[in-house]
Amino acid sequence: MLILHGSDFQTGRPYRPRVAAAFVALSRELAPDLVVVSGDLTQRAKAREYGTVRALLDAVDMPLVLTPGNHDVPLYRIWERILTPYRQWHRFLGVGLDSVIRVDGATVVALNSAAPRRTVVRGRLHPRQLAFARRALDDVPVTDVRILVIHHHFVATPDREGGRPLPGAAELLRAFEGMGVDLVLGGHVHQTHLTTSRALVRDPRRRPGIPLLACGTTTSSRGRGPEAGRNGLLVVRVDDRVVAVTPHFFDGETGRFLPGPDKTFPRWRVDTGVAEDVS
Ligand SMILES: [Fe+2]
Repeated sequence: MLILHGSDFQTGRPYRPRVAAAFVALSRELAPDLVVVSGDLTQRAKAREYGTVRALLDAVDMPLVLTPGNHDVPLYRIWERILTPYRQWHRFLGVGLDSVIRVDGATVVALNSAAPRRTVVRGRLHPRQLAFARRALDDVPVTDVRILVIHHHFVATPDREGGRPLPGAAELLRAFEGMGVDLVLGGHVHQTHLTTSRALVRDPRRRPGIPLLACGTTTSSRGRGPEAGRNGLLVVRVDDRVVAVTPHFFDGETGRFLPGPDKTFPRWRVDTGVAEDVS
């Protein structure tokens, strides 16, 4: 299972079209099983910005998983934020706000953490979204990789530049461990951050925990902390034993995304319910 994971495209003022072209080129080169974009596709949720996203995704033309971020709903158009926050999302992308995508060997649940009526930046998950995920993963074959895609982060970056994590993060991660989630893909922090659920959730059996992979901003000028001014994406390989992540960074000279140092996580369970350490 090969996944190309981008995030925080932020089409609009911070958008870098040349970097976006490199993202499309890499997607064709790798021909992954899935392309995941974990939110903040636009900067201000304007029709023009969504049009740019649509064109970019059409150029990728592969099995796609999308989830909204806090920038994908209006910030300053307050009435629109309250009454019809996802109008442009539905008009241009035609993807559910929470969705389930099944491909050969994997089930992906994408949950919308934007919550525009409750919070502006920090994000929220509603208990009914946990129930949605649980239902979606209930009858999945044990051999399937279970992937969760969500824009907001569960664990703060070491420099705290990405802001505070989702409210109730530890409790949520406990729930996702119970569902046998193998991998979480997200963004929002605008820098690469690769950790596991063990950062928040203790396990007396000392199993390794769910890899939590935050992608930097793939195509915008809004990189933070060590990735200020930089653009990143993740290439993720999952097999029976490991989740191997290779962050890639845009190189201005070659106009391509080039691989950085990779990191490998053990798969932390073999089936649901009775999660066994496979490391
Ligand atoms: Fe965000």
